[in-house]
Amino acid sequence: MFLGIETSCDETAAAVVSTDGQICANIIASQIDDHARHGGVVPEVAARAHLTLIDEVIEKALAEAGIRMGDISAVAATGGPGLIGGVLVGTVTAKAIALGGDIPFYGVNHLEGHALTARLTGNVPFPYLMLLVSGGHTQLLAVRGPGDYIRYGTTLDDAAGEAFDKSAQILGLGMPGGPRIEAAARNGNDQAFVLPRPLENKPGCHFSFSGMKTAIRTAYHNDIAPLPEGEERNASVADLAASLERAIADSLGSRSERAMRRFAEDHDVARPAFVVAGGVGANAKVRSRLEEVAEKRGFAFHAPPPGLCTDNAVMIAWAAIERQKAGDAGDELDFTPRPRWPLDPDAVPPAGRGVRT
Ligand code: KG4
Ligand code: ZN
Repeated sequence: MFLGIETSCDETAAAVVSTDGQICANIIASQIDDHARHGGVVPEVAARAHLTLIDEVIEKALAEAGIRMGDISAVAATGGPGLIGGVLVGTVTAKAIALGGDIPFYGVNHLEGHALTARLTGNVPFPYLMLLVSGGHTQLLAVRGPGDYIRYGTTLDDAAGEAFDKSAQILGLGMPGGPRIEAAARNGNDQAFVLPRPLENKPGCHFSFSGMKTAIRTAYHNDIAPLPEGEERNASVADLAASLERAIADSLGSRSERAMRRFAEDHDVARPAFVVAGGVGANAKVRSRLEEVAEKRGFAFHAPPPGLCTDNAVMIAWAAIERQKAGDAGDELDFTPRPRWPLDPDAVPPAGRGVRT
């Protein structure tokens, strides 16, 4: 039984997963109400909330699994990347548990947690191609084993999740942005607005989303923002939300298609898998667009259930289990949390401004 702890952003989560892949407990306490009034996640508020919630969340996880702390064989916490105050709360808690119980401690890369979830939920064999789309990252990677990644592409500016979140704010939909846009889009016409598809047909597998956000702002002010009384608009927030969702799904789909070609050249696998991971992977339009592209290119598509795409502690426990199976006995208790922690440290930064790793 591995105890997993996730505290890198605005969810305080704990989970118990057995080494054969049974999810025995999965507890997530969201802090969204604490942050919504600020219009975004405030790091100091998050760190304090993690501190308040963490003990209770772990107790709930143990209770749900029907075990006691002494039954845990290893403890894993997100060691980065993420908001450092929260990561400190999680790692210090996990280290204390490891020290008290004389069990191994794993400082897990949060992105590796997302990356390896598909092996828990879909038994996907290495190597596979992954699109990691979350609030802070949009990356295409070849996943070859724990700690073994080759990055094909990343975003030059905003992450896809950020495009959802910032657009939701512009449209007055509030937080959490992605799910609010998805809900609004259900009643909209996705052809109503022509939004840019940045980098379309450009070589390589990088992404760019900041132009989309600007286009949303312009469209909102020109076509949707309330008019003086008596005048009516014929386009709605729902139309713009639906058009945005389609534009993001298209963009993710077309760049993923390029990565599939490269993956097939680099790896001799008969029917390789294409996996989506991270919060934006919870979006139904995004999932179906990616599935279409995978189908076309002869890749087997796998998307974890939406609840395991967004942040959770199951993936943290599972990543540690994968590491242990690969012969990694864990980290020392002087492990230092890492606000930045790329999966492929050797990836060449893309040319362009505002580059994220
Ligand atoms: O992986 P995640 O939970 O946290 C990070 O590691 O960033 O991803 C959060 C991101 C947010 O930007 C959120 O708006 C987006 O995932 N997201 C969605 C949906 N659910 C979460 N975006 C679009 N549609 C959704 N249903
Ligand atoms: Zn995440």
